[in-house]
Amino acid sequence: MEKLVIRGKKPLKGEVSIPGAKNSALPILAASLLVEGKCTISNVPYLKDVSMMIKILESLGANFKREADNVHLDCSDINSWNVPDDLVRTMRSSIFLMGPLLARFKKVKIVYPGGCAIGTRAIDLHIKGLASLGAKIDEKFGYIEVSADKLKGSEIYLDYPSVGATENVMLAAVKAEGTTIIKNAAREPEIIDLANFLNNIGAKVKGAGTAEIKIYGTQKAFTKHCQHDIIPDRIVAGTVMVGAAMTGGDVKLNDVIPPHLESVMIKLKEMGATISKDVNSIRVKGNLPLKAVDLIRTAPYPGFPTDMQPQMMIALTMAKGSSLVSENVFDGRFKHVGEFRRMGAQISTDNRTAVVRGVDTLRGALVESSDLRAGAALVLAGLAAENITIITNIHHIDRGYEQIEALFTSLGGDIKRVLC
Ligand code: EPZ
Repeated sequence: MEKLVIRGKKPLKGEVSIPGAKNSALPILAASLLVEGKCTISNVPYLKDVSMMIKILESLGANFKREADNVHLDCSDINSWNVPDDLVRTMRSSIFLMGPLLARFKKVKIVYPGGCAIGTRAIDLHIKGLASLGAKIDEKFGYIEVSADKLKGSEIYLDYPSVGATENVMLAAVKAEGTTIIKNAAREPEIIDLANFLNNIGAKVKGAGTAEIKIYGTQKAFTKHCQHDIIPDRIVAGTVMVGAAMTGGDVKLNDVIPPHLESVMIKLKEMGATISKDVNSIRVKGNLPLKAVDLIRTAPYPGFPTDMQPQMMIALTMAKGSSLVSENVFDGRFKHVGEFRRMGAQISTDNRTAVVRGVDTLRGALVESSDLRAGAALVLAGLAAENITIITNIHHIDRGYEQIEALFTSLGGDIKRVLC
């Protein structure tokens, strides 16, 4: 079992290059199933979830080779549509393997993915979207079996702009007969990246990044070799930005796309940080004490990202004044509050709303990571708090951050991974 040991109160200073986005790499790796040939996907981050997705693809018959940040996949000989249960159970986002397997084989069998620490994680919109394309859905004994004689383009309205459901429908519709229109689609940058990959392999997807996406289905095989560069991880970048601000540091982030971080930059400026940006870099200087903000309200992109809510909340625990945090995307994403309180944070919650009353400083403590972003927020807390913080259950953090201890050590943080 590993844990992180952090000695706080060291301002983060220096420069860092941001890796490729987990939430772009995962759907694009799944999309490689559509290619009856070779794909080279670059800037793929070294993460547990990425390794898990590659393991699933190999179990279905894909050939895989990794050279540094480049992943070479050959899905010519994919021979199964039955996704291994044990692998699906470990990673919820394997749910968007349904779309490409349905497109390629007109059938897919997958165990019902569980919920996780941040909420119920329903998949009704995925199911409804695929059914609209003509798929028959059988849910029995905890499995979902999806099949279709053929997929027919249709107009699909998503009751909620679900990222995963938008991706699943896109991945199936590229092989439907006719045109599919997704209304109230998710607008995240990762959706645009997926659409660019699909257009690279020969599909025709228009409108990604807006609430209406058009997919012109085709029956021709996607065989040409494609090369695709994954966009930078805006949540890893946002996490570093908050760390710089709340430790009174001065950090320049390279290889980022500033427009993807608009809402985070605006909120950090409201808190008194000095932010400057260039075409592919952002610099954050923390001016302590930070100021409280009236409201952090998470929402689908371009709203404030739910994946930055725990990190922003921990910064507010040491801001001057009280702030309101409203979590509108997931129904259980305050599990980190208890651990923050162990470090001296003053937070009251009611359902999806939290009031954060700033304190002068957090105290180091033994805390436990409940999920990926909560764990990252505890790292930020440890870097800013007095004395020593020890974080357990750090496997959650490794799902979304490449060696988080190396990332913050390179910026002057005192953080070590130890075996216990
Ligand atoms: C993606 O999850 C991301 N994961 C999440 O990042 C991110 O928090 C989320 O989008 C929102 O931005 C990946 O891309 C791998 P949703 P996803 O479908 O697709 C409800 C991280 O930390 N919903 O947009 O699962 C759902 O319950 C992770 O990197 C339905 O009700 O998110 C939730 O309340 C965490 N029915 C809301 O929509 C459905 O069929 C948002 O879910 C689907 C979703």
